[in-house]
Amino acid sequence: MIPELVSFVTRREGRKFRHLSPAVGDSIINGEELGGKGGISLYVHIPFCRSLCPFCCFNRYLFDEDLARRYYIDLKKELELYIRRGFSFSSIYFGGGTPTVLMDELSSFIRYLRAQFNVSEVSLETTPRELTEQNIGLLKEMGINRLSIGVQSFEEPVLKTMGRVNGPADEVKSRLLMAEGQFDTLNVDFVFNFPGQTIEQFTADVAAFKELGIDQATFYPLMASPHKKDAMERKFNRVDNSREQQFYGVITRELYRGGYKASTAWCFSRGERMIDEYIIEFDDYIGIGSGSVSIVRGNFFVNSFSLDRYHELAGAGRLPIVGWRKLSEKENLRYYLLTKLFGMKLDIEALRRRFGNNAQSKLWTELAFFKTFGLVSGNGVLHVTGKGMYPVSVMMRDFFAALNTLREHCIEHQI
Ligand SMILES: C[S@@+](CC[C@H](N)C(=O)[O-])C[C@H]1O[C@@H](n2cnc3c(N)ncnc32)[C@H](O)[C@@H]1O
Ligand code: SF4
Repeated sequence: MIPELVSFVTRREGRKFRHLSPAVGDSIINGEELGGKGGISLYVHIPFCRSLCPFCCFNRYLFDEDLARRYYIDLKKELELYIRRGFSFSSIYFGGGTPTVLMDELSSFIRYLRAQFNVSEVSLETTPRELTEQNIGLLKEMGINRLSIGVQSFEEPVLKTMGRVNGPADEVKSRLLMAEGQFDTLNVDFVFNFPGQTIEQFTADVAAFKELGIDQATFYPLMASPHKKDAMERKFNRVDNSREQQFYGVITRELYRGGYKASTAWCFSRGERMIDEYIIEFDDYIGIGSGSVSIVRGNFFVNSFSLDRYHELAGAGRLPIVGWRKLSEKENLRYYLLTKLFGMKLDIEALRRRFGNNAQSKLWTELAFFKTFGLVSGNGVLHVTGKGMYPVSVMMRDFFAALNTLREHCIEHQI
């Protein structure tokens, strides 16, 4: 009943992020005015992959070297526009797509970032196929601090259903072990509740992860936008959210037993210096690249998903933003609440500093709901309880699913 209720409210809130003004003047983003001198992280989207997984809702295209080289030139141009507006970044996240498809360009772009900013932390996503000895060496040379590998599953039948090309599970495991200990944080991604995936298969994945002795894993509930959901259901089986809580139970039970702590509702870590997802650590972030989004002081910006349009705009010295929404005060507060609860705690003092002394009263209904049903506990800092973790996971899933619908629309219409 509680998961259904939070799901309903989050989907309604998430849909609002899809109502965008078609374009914005370049003057709207100004780093100094918006606090760009600190506390903002940079997300860099690299939208190329060697093969396209059918379930994936991110902006991605088949790798083409010429297009990718042109893309890096455009990325630099886009970044320069932010530098001119007074932005500076210390924490940088490369996501995709597959950021390692063109290592020489990646390396020179990171060198450029380091020359511009005082970079303290670089995170990067890649796939098991890209995790070669040579690439690990290069990524270390580039100073990557957190490396995240999308394994999705070690189970052959699950990967086959997903249409995911990973190579044999034993090879994937030995590649992960080769990377273990080489970075401050090594993270492995899994997907759960995929149509046809059994609880036994997922339990085996979690056990295999623990056996490898890696310090961090992120478990993504399958997030299917309506289009993808239809396509998947035609191809495989029903996307059944009623099984999701059972999968989630496996995660919490097995990870806690293994000495891991939840750093988000999906990410479990152990050890000293674990770096989490940028959405949690930073209230504001700028996304550059085709199909990335930015959140800056209650403004939501969407970049063009079309590689050609992105090239056209960035190449002409314009921000490639094609959609913008100024969140209302309530939307902004609810987005803040969602991201903080996803990160397992809400600091009331930090909430007040950001939104003013009466921010708590403006979130009275939401906070009363979470407290009354025992989903959070504490006073000055509210912590998500064991009972609250699954509802929080549902909230984030539905928020991302709403964004996926936006992504799908933009990709389909090449906006
Ligand atoms: C966008 S991928 C980038 C990393 C890399 N390309 C890969 O596939 O490993 C980051 C993670 O998003 C997750 N993901 C992608 N599509 C998803 C979907 N429809 N539902 C849930 N998780 C998804 C996968 O776990 C993946 O590892
Ligand atoms: S899941 Fe990763 S490799 Fe597969 S298409 Fe998406 S971004 Fe590319």
